[in-house]
Amino acid sequence: MNPKIEKILSLRGVRPIAEITAYDYPNARLADEAGIDMILVGDSLGMVVMGYPDTTHVTLEDMLHHGRMVARAAKNALVILDMPIHTFDTPQQALETARRMMETGVDAVKLEGGADKEEHIRAIVDAGIPVQAHIGLLPQKVKEEGGYHMKGKTDEEAAALLRDMQAVARAGAFSVVIECTRKGAAADITAASPIPTIGIGAGHGTCDGEVCVFHDLVGGFPWFVPSFITPKANIAAEITRAIKEWSAELTMPGK
Ligand code: KIV
Repeated sequence: MNPKIEKILSLRGVRPIAEITAYDYPNARLADEAGIDMILVGDSLGMVVMGYPDTTHVTLEDMLHHGRMVARAAKNALVILDMPIHTFDTPQQALETARRMMETGVDAVKLEGGADKEEHIRAIVDAGIPVQAHIGLLPQKVKEEGGYHMKGKTDEEAAALLRDMQAVARAGAFSVVIECTRKGAAADITAASPIPTIGIGAGHGTCDGEVCVFHDLVGGFPWFVPSFITPKANIAAEITRAIKEWSAELTMPGK
């Protein structure tokens, strides 16, 4: 097993696992040097880096391009590259995509889906490629579901999420992201899960670790901030201040 994966697994029950997104060399290197456990090159880059309204516009080429930047930067963190929409529609396509992604130098891939993706995950894992699964709210389904809706609100939904976790674990995923899921349901899934759970918008202390979007954490995308995160910095304000200060100091020739 990849020693970086072994390290992540060994953290379970010892301390919370910290995962953050990064999409380029400097921010990935900063995250790595800050001691983060896992760096996700998420398809959220479609929104916070590329300016699309949602993640359904992101292509495999986009992800490969950014995956290479992050893989070059990270020395210690486990780097995971997200599979964009329609690049894993069948188990065969999922494996081909995962193989291309691993050529960028990343350590693992991630894909959205639960029981419906059990065979897809198994095909990738059987080829020796580590997979992080992703259940609960699936941003790639934003169009079919008509927006982003909290999951696990009813007993039926919570039970279906539990089955999703069991399916992805059975398929060999090494960890599972649980996104925007009711706190109680996320905690129940964690208690039953044989693999580490990583929450986002699923309450604090409900999962073995948490993942957050870099720009949400550092205030890098002020036009939209999810309600479940408290930014720890305001880099957008600092960038604006620095640009204004520099441009106000420019002088005319001869003055
Ligand atoms: O794309 C992404 O950043 C993600 C996280 C929100 C888990 O999938």
